[in-house]
Amino acid sequence: MAPILDIYGLESPTFHMAFEELVDYVNELNVVVSDFHKNVTPKQFKYCFGDFGLDHCTIDTLMAILEISKRCANAGSLRGGATGAMVFGNLSERQMAVTCKELKIGEKDRFIDIGCGFGQLMCTVAALTQAEVSTGIEYQDHIYDAGLLQLKFFKKLMKFFGKRHGNITIKYGDVTEKKNHSMITTSTFVFANNIAFKKQ
Ligand SMILES: C[S@@+](CC[C@H](N)C(=O)[O-])C[C@H]1O[C@@H](n2cnc3c(N)ncnc32)[C@H](O)[C@@H]1O
Repeated sequence: MAPILDIYGLESPTFHMAFEELVDYVNELNVVVSDFHKNVTPKQFKYCFGDFGLDHCTIDTLMAILEISKRCANAGSLRGGATGAMVFGNLSERQMAVTCKELKIGEKDRFIDIGCGFGQLMCTVAALTQAEVSTGIEYQDHIYDAGLLQLKFFKKLMKFFGKRHGNITIKYGDVTEKKNHSMITTSTFVFANNIAFKKQ
């Protein structure tokens, strides 16, 4: 964000800001930069988060945005013991990007990650494919909470950098429960990275 802050003479956000303060700061910034987005052309301004003129994310831009949103949501703290025995690692966003390409996931698709963790994969799908809906369901409440926060930051950052994405939602719940089955049956791509789902 440094070039934009510099242009508008704004102070940088600090690591000590409370969450609500940071959200207010980002909202204010979104208003300030909206004119900038409208007027700038690709040749005028090359930016560390990719080409400002592009309305969609390249993979590198997406990685940079996800890196920030994950840090803001403190997703790193969920690794290891905090996740418990039901978590067995994450797929990398770059692997997901390759998967999207190989499976040709597109705008008419409805993607779901059953056991989405903090939701980085559905964000990846939404940003790279513009799928109609990218959803995740997660049943560990502390991971779901981090997912909600991650998603909130991700959407704000995407807006800030002028990048579009398909609809993204995250739901709290156990995917094996009957009431959640329609989320699967209405999807065109179902992704699972889990060695087992508990028996009902
Ligand atoms: C290995 S992690 C995968 C996270 C993410 N999908 C990825 O690939 O990076 C599996 C996640 O599934 C969640 N999970 C396991 N069983 C579930 C269930 N029955 N319903 C919803 N979530 C579940 C776990 O809590 C965990 O966060």
